[in-house]
Amino acid sequence: MKTKLQYSSLTLMPAQCVRASAVVLRVCTLILCSVLLVSCSDSVQNTLDTPTDVRLAVPSNFPPIRYNLAANQISTDGFILGRTLFYDGTLSRDGTVSCGSCHQQSSAFTHHGHDLSHGIDDKLGNRNSPPVMNLAWQPHFFWDGGVHDLDLFSIAPIENPVEMDEKLDNVLAKLRSSPKYRSLFAKAFGSEDISTSRFLKALSQFMLMCVSSQSRYDSFVRHEGAVLSERERLGRTLFSQKCGACHSTDLFTDFSFRNNGLEQRTPFDSGRARITLQHEDIGKFKVPSVRNIALTAPYMHDGRIRTLEGVLNHYRFGMKVTPNIDSFFIRQGKNPGIDMTDNEAQLIIEFLHTLTDTDFTTRRILSEQ
Ligand code: HEC
Ligand code: HEC
Repeated sequence: MKTKLQYSSLTLMPAQCVRASAVVLRVCTLILCSVLLVSCSDSVQNTLDTPTDVRLAVPSNFPPIRYNLAANQISTDGFILGRTLFYDGTLSRDGTVSCGSCHQQSSAFTHHGHDLSHGIDDKLGNRNSPPVMNLAWQPHFFWDGGVHDLDLFSIAPIENPVEMDEKLDNVLAKLRSSPKYRSLFAKAFGSEDISTSRFLKALSQFMLMCVSSQSRYDSFVRHEGAVLSERERLGRTLFSQKCGACHSTDLFTDFSFRNNGLEQRTPFDSGRARITLQHEDIGKFKVPSVRNIALTAPYMHDGRIRTLEGVLNHYRFGMKVTPNIDSFFIRQGKNPGIDMTDNEAQLIIEFLHTLTDTDFTTRRILSEQ
């Protein structure tokens, strides 16, 4: 049954099933749908670690994707190669740290429980590890937006001295000496050539497939059967009034850079200004998505807040007057913040829990095989 559930995700089905279910979903009853999905998955008689047809499907409640898929078409073998690389410590200097060590599926591909990420030799980074999630929709990466192109992204953690501390050339040399990788590259790209571009594109293919769109909230807004309680629906309305200016659309972020009044700490992280060198960007960070937020504590760019209650308390009472604080938070005659009663804060938290997507955190094809 577990297998069927995972195959019923629209991101992994034979093409004709995707098309058929897209049409039928609009008109059919829930029961009819599940019969259809089960019969589709029954026709896929393969194991989950060798899927037949990996493709990126755009959920109907999401905006269009930004990644240029034409330049890196996702194939099943490219995805499998990318997944193997993502979970392989060979990408680090001493073989111990894989991408998956700081991006763990069970916590929506974050480093659960770590405020700052721990890398090689247990060295401490300076930021909290964000989820690898819905990257095809992101215009820029990192808390400060320092990288624009996902296909160039993976060099950064590999060469970062406190993350994987390895040189890309060494990684490629190690892969070239491995018969397993020569064969995986040949399957994915048609020849054994292990180049920088193929390596990076394969990693992108895996990460692009890390799509989270199966939460109870998604099922509710797409009319796929889930219901939200009255409190959760109230929480949703409050969230869109009080938080939706920044955590907007069904991706729950507008990807802009803002300052939300976190107290400045030493060592000071100037955020977006590290990239733009502009005064008005000091202390601004990319608005993070709040999808799967119940699974990704601790919170904020440096993981300083441990709980969702703590986050709500920050917005209500904890904000400081920082140089570039967002005008949204300015209130007449009192400190910056968002007006909310205890009950309203609680309702928002209950709504945030509807964004937990356990299909995403347990989907077998995304896990280490
Ligand atoms: C030592 C822990 C660690 C390792 C290992 C690591 N990451 Fe990360 N990752 C982080 C941290 C911390 C950030 C945020 C850094 C920042 O914003 O400055 C990040 C950010 C990212 C992002 C950006 C997400 C976003 O929304 O902006 C992606 C994508 C990503 N990592 C993928 C990878 C890949 C691929 C690898 C392996 C090649 C990898 N990471 C290895 C800790 C790690
Ligand atoms: C004016 C824009 C803005 C508004 C309004 C806003 N946020 Fe944020 N939010 C941000 C920014 C920017 C960050 C990241 C700040 C940082 O780490 O420095 C953030 C971070 C968060 C985080 C941490 C996410 C993570 O992955 O660490 C949560 C949770 C959150 N906000 C929830 C809310 C809630 C709930 C509301 C409404 C009560 C709200 N936000 C209103 C801009 C905003």
